[in-house]
Amino acid sequence: MSSSDQDDHDEDAPLFRANSGDDDDHPRRRSSPVGEVPVAQSIIKAASNVCFSLFVLAVLVVTVVAVTYQPPDPWLQSSAAITTSLSRVLPNSTFLLPDDSLLPTGEDFNSSSSTPSAPRRDDPDQATATATAAAVNGTCDPDAPLNCSDPRVLAAVKAFNAKAFFRRSIVFLSYEAPVPGPKPGECDVAWRFRNRREKSWRRYRDYRRFTLVPGDGCALDINRVGKFRSGTNAARPPRQKGSKNRNPRIAPPPVDAEINDTIPIVGSEAEFRRGKYLYYMRGGDHCKSMNQFIWSFLCGLGEAKFLNRTFVMDLNMCLSGAHTDNGKDEDGKDFRYYFDFEHLKESVSVVEEGDFLKDWKRWDKKKGPGRISVRKVPSYKVTPMQLKRDKSNIIWRLFDGQEPENYWYRVCEGRAAKVIQRPWYAIWKSKRLMNIVTEIAGRMDWDYDGLHVIRGWKAQNKQMYPNLDADTSPEALVDKVPKLIKQPMRNLYIATNEPFYNYFDKLRSYFHVHLLDDYKELWSNSSEWYNETTTLSGGRPVPFDAYMRVIVDTEVFYRAKTQVETFNNLTRDCKDGINTCNL
Ligand SMILES: *[C@@H]1O[C@H](CO)[C@@H](O)[C@H](O)[C@H]1NC(C)=O
Ligand SMILES: *[C@@H]1O[C@H](CO)[C@@H](O)[C@H](O)[C@H]1NC(C)=O
Ligand SMILES: *[C@@H]1O[C@H](CO)[C@@H](O)[C@H](O)[C@H]1NC(C)=O
Ligand SMILES: *[C@@H]1O[C@H](CO)[C@@H](O)[C@H](O)[C@H]1NC(C)=O
Ligand SMILES: *[C@@H]1O[C@H](CO)[C@@H](O)[C@H](O)[C@H]1NC(C)=O
Ligand SMILES: *[C@@H]1O[C@H](CO)[C@@H](O)[C@H](O)[C@H]1NC(C)=O
Ligand SMILES: *[C@@H]1O[C@H](CO)[C@@H](O)[C@H](O)[C@H]1NC(C)=O
Ligand SMILES: *[C@@H]1O[C@H](CO)[C@@H](O)[C@H](O)[C@H]1NC(C)=O
Ligand SMILES: *[C@@H]1O[C@H](CO)[C@@H](O)[C@H](O)[C@H]1NC(C)=O
Repeated sequence: MSSSDQDDHDEDAPLFRANSGDDDDHPRRRSSPVGEVPVAQSIIKAASNVCFSLFVLAVLVVTVVAVTYQPPDPWLQSSAAITTSLSRVLPNSTFLLPDDSLLPTGEDFNSSSSTPSAPRRDDPDQATATATAAAVNGTCDPDAPLNCSDPRVLAAVKAFNAKAFFRRSIVFLSYEAPVPGPKPGECDVAWRFRNRREKSWRRYRDYRRFTLVPGDGCALDINRVGKFRSGTNAARPPRQKGSKNRNPRIAPPPVDAEINDTIPIVGSEAEFRRGKYLYYMRGGDHCKSMNQFIWSFLCGLGEAKFLNRTFVMDLNMCLSGAHTDNGKDEDGKDFRYYFDFEHLKESVSVVEEGDFLKDWKRWDKKKGPGRISVRKVPSYKVTPMQLKRDKSNIIWRLFDGQEPENYWYRVCEGRAAKVIQRPWYAIWKSKRLMNIVTEIAGRMDWDYDGLHVIRGWKAQNKQMYPNLDADTSPEALVDKVPKLIKQPMRNLYIATNEPFYNYFDKLRSYFHVHLLDDYKELWSNSSEWYNETTTLSGGRPVPFDAYMRVIVDTEVFYRAKTQVETFNNLTRDCKDGINTCNL
């Protein structure tokens, strides 16, 4: 039986449970029911409805299957593959294998090709032309000490970059004024760039140290150039106007000063009262897989958009035990560790739940005309279409009931699926994580190949994956990979869930092997990432958890030139198990 049967059961059934209670009470956080007991209870409850109980049985089966799986080992796939498998799996709302694959986010989707409405880029020819012009003009005394403010410096750097990186899919967006390096003859130059392989227009910063010498005529030649982010004197972006008071006791600005994910606040009572809100109370999705979280959260955002309302969101997340060291669910994670809240708040209308509840309590008059009107919606069976004309200030979905009745995404099932559009474009991965990705790719100068090796439970499950283990053994890898990447001693980034660091040692005689753990210092307690995440967490160290690892590993792999994937290139097994290759 297919789980899509759930769409067939009676949508107009009486409301599941009307827990309207007292409209004046204020919401409190509830913990979600977890485990199989509620499912068993639902079976008894629903026994009268054959179709419905069939559905519950299916869920039970799914639950049992899910429980028998090992903690997942997230594997990665190409964006195209993700989109295909996504459209296949998601309509059925099956999250049977939690986070087995990374769901794509908005930046993986931008299909519109490169017609930059975004910042202009420096054309290589143009840069060279500028360099020549600067050389022809002016006052050049070859014996004068190098002054980094000299326009010829920037011109030389631009020309050099355009040549050196043009073919490496880097687009230079803007340069900052060069500043002196530590020694005479050195200048540190910062610029913003984006990577052509990335579909989003997110900009990153690089700063490098250049050694310049007088060249032909008045031109300057670049003698030496430092590695990614070597020009530390140019590391700090120029201070914004208006923040002139440089009190040395105030902490330095965060390294990526472009991240602004402060929580937007409702300015005044009048503004609050004018607002229309859609409030989803925490449901059964809490502590489920990250994929289910995204799928559910986007349903909420989609409904808010459909109703033209502001979505009340909880920044507090719960990381499923599948991604924690001790296998236990960990509550209290911040949305901003994983996703780009700045982009979200610019893309859709959201307010933070804690502030919202405070304002609501503060400004609600218990009686009379000052009341803030609330429509409580106990069940997902009340469709968004039925709420479209509701004028209440707050539409409050309670998500009563037991799993899977209390999953957010169920709001978007059935007929609602045709009118609600999930705003995928609103979700991007955290820029703090993407900065790590950029750093890793940058250290290899964006010139590397990628190998993706999926092992973990799939390699152990011989029934679903009869050949995977053998096909990804060190011997098989040494046999196959040099045939696929023929150029010797290339940089090879291996994205993998194989925990044993030395597993790939045999490949080291053919390639310069890079693994995620080679870059540990990027999230160690002396890293930018550490500084920035502890700021978010109020000073507590934030562990670099398994889900973050998957995001970084995958994204570095995506930026590789030649990409060798487990299920296309190393083994004939199918990625979703035996006989699923051509679904
Ligand atoms: C989703 O449902 C469709 C229709 O019932 C079915 O053909 C398909 O196999 C299902 N896909 C998955 C991944 O379960
Ligand atoms: C070169 O000189 C011309 C005229 O003297 C001036 O218009 C131009 O801006 C100068 N170019 C540079 C790069 O200084
Ligand atoms: C470099 O040139 C700028 C203006 O072009 C000037 O203000 C600065 O004093 C010069 N620096 C040195 C070290 O000569
Ligand atoms: C999508 O690409 C276009 C240019 O092709 C760009 O202007 C736009 O900002 C991109 N959208 C996102 C979300 O990155
Ligand atoms: C950050 O964004 C908020 C709006 O969400 C804005 O009010 C605030 O001024 C911004 N802060 C900085 C430093 O740009
Ligand atoms: C959406 O709401 C805003 C204010 O909350 C209003 O100005 C706008 O006209 C509404 N749009 C639609 C399509 O209802
Ligand atoms: C950083 O970690 C190292 C080893 O893990 C530890 O010795 C050191 O005390 C830590 N520093 C801080 C500031 O927490
Ligand atoms: C992190 O913060 C500490 C203390 O504010 C500072 O000394 C250190 O330089 C920062 N590290 C980075 C990489 O920004
Ligand atoms: C991996 O397999 C895919 C699909 O068969 C193919 O298009 C790609 O060229 C292969 N990659 C390499 C490096 O051979």
